Amino acid sequence: MVTLLKNPKQIVTIDSSGKNYKRGSEMKDIGLLEDHSLLLEDGKIKNIIKNSSITNSKFDIEIDLTDKTVLPGLVECHTHTAFAGSRSEEFKLKLQGIGYEEIAKRGGGITNTMSAVRKSSFDELIEIVKPRIEYFISQGITTLEIKSGYGLSFYDEIKLLQVIKELNKIYSIDIVPTLLGAHTFPPEYKNDNETYINMITSELIPYICKNKLAKFCDVFCESTAFSAEQTEIIFKVAANCGLKLKLHTEQFNSIGGLEIALNMNATSVDHLEVLRDEQIELFSRSETTAVLLPGVSFFLDYDYAPARKLIDGNAIVALATDFNPGSSHIANFQLIMSLAALKMNMTIEEIFTAVTLNAANALDLSDKLGSIEVGKNADFSIFEANDYSELVYNIGKNLNVMTIKNGETIYKQDTLL
Ligand code: NIG
Ligand code: FE
Repeated sequence: MVTLLKNPKQIVTIDSSGKNYKRGSEMKDIGLLEDHSLLLEDGKIKNIIKNSSITNSKFDIEIDLTDKTVLPGLVECHTHTAFAGSRSEEFKLKLQGIGYEEIAKRGGGITNTMSAVRKSSFDELIEIVKPRIEYFISQGITTLEIKSGYGLSFYDEIKLLQVIKELNKIYSIDIVPTLLGAHTFPPEYKNDNETYINMITSELIPYICKNKLAKFCDVFCESTAFSAEQTEIIFKVAANCGLKLKLHTEQFNSIGGLEIALNMNATSVDHLEVLRDEQIELFSRSETTAVLLPGVSFFLDYDYAPARKLIDGNAIVALATDFNPGSSHIANFQLIMSLAALKMNMTIEEIFTAVTLNAANALDLSDKLGSIEVGKNADFSIFEANDYSELVYNIGKNLNVMTIKNGETIYKQDTLL
């Protein structure tokens, strides 16, 4: 069956000529098309045609997209969506001037959410997380990464990854699972870090690999969490059993995590708010994607990652919400795009590359999705906009009216299908 997506005002293709990412100045080339339509077949993009050739084309279904703007399905490549409980009490402390790291030291932070997750059953977690996924879909997100990291025990980390696996079955978007057992040390191992790391390397990672419960292994490398040496120990075991690598690093401190991740060819390094000038050039030839999270800087009210310097330094840059209960309680992707423009000086074109092709590269999926090119997955977000700049200009307003995954319409005008 062939579907025609007919006559949108604009198609932002992010055409990459078959490459898996855009770096530096390439990020501004969004391959904008007007007066074109799209043909889809078997869940893939079959052809991109001029409107004048519609009459010569064969198709079974047509979807009229007059006055709409089409983007590749948005890719959200860094979230902690699988959490329970609320940290609104901590938000009040934060508003009194108490910092994120201080709140964590007082027993709040990640371990607060850990307690809520440990108390929640598999079924309860599914129900808690479902509306969050539906909100992402309503925004045009067709691929979503979710990390564990709030279980912090063998049993509870596996429980979270099984919840993520089940949600991937329930919804037609792709949900990419990441093991973040090394998010912080749970209270019972506060004074015995080595035993916790041993549990991760000799029990948790082997189990996750054997049961294919995660694609990536992530670590929080910070002075309040895991050291660079501990990160390296965990990464070596993870890479050996076939997990790809991601790292939370240079968020508050620069303690060597970035260099380890780049040397080990991590798929992405995320945060980078305190990246130093001399580290920028490390990205110029590296194929590791720099995932920037402006929602965290906004939420915690501190410096933004140096997006401009990274792009000018030829890096591959992606953007994500980092949706989580403590440092970025923001699941609004359009707000993230606007923050990137207003606070990090990214151009609107660079932003679209960062939330599509480069975000797909941060999930090692850009050979299949992230741009509108013949042969790629027919994933699209369709916006009520005559010009693509409306998405960034309408701050926090959801302009997505249709989400298409593998050629199927899965969300339309306020309704999940
Ligand atoms: O990406 N930095 C570590 N992890 C999360 C925050 C998690 C939390 O506070 O619950 C982040 O910012
Ligand atoms: Fe994060």
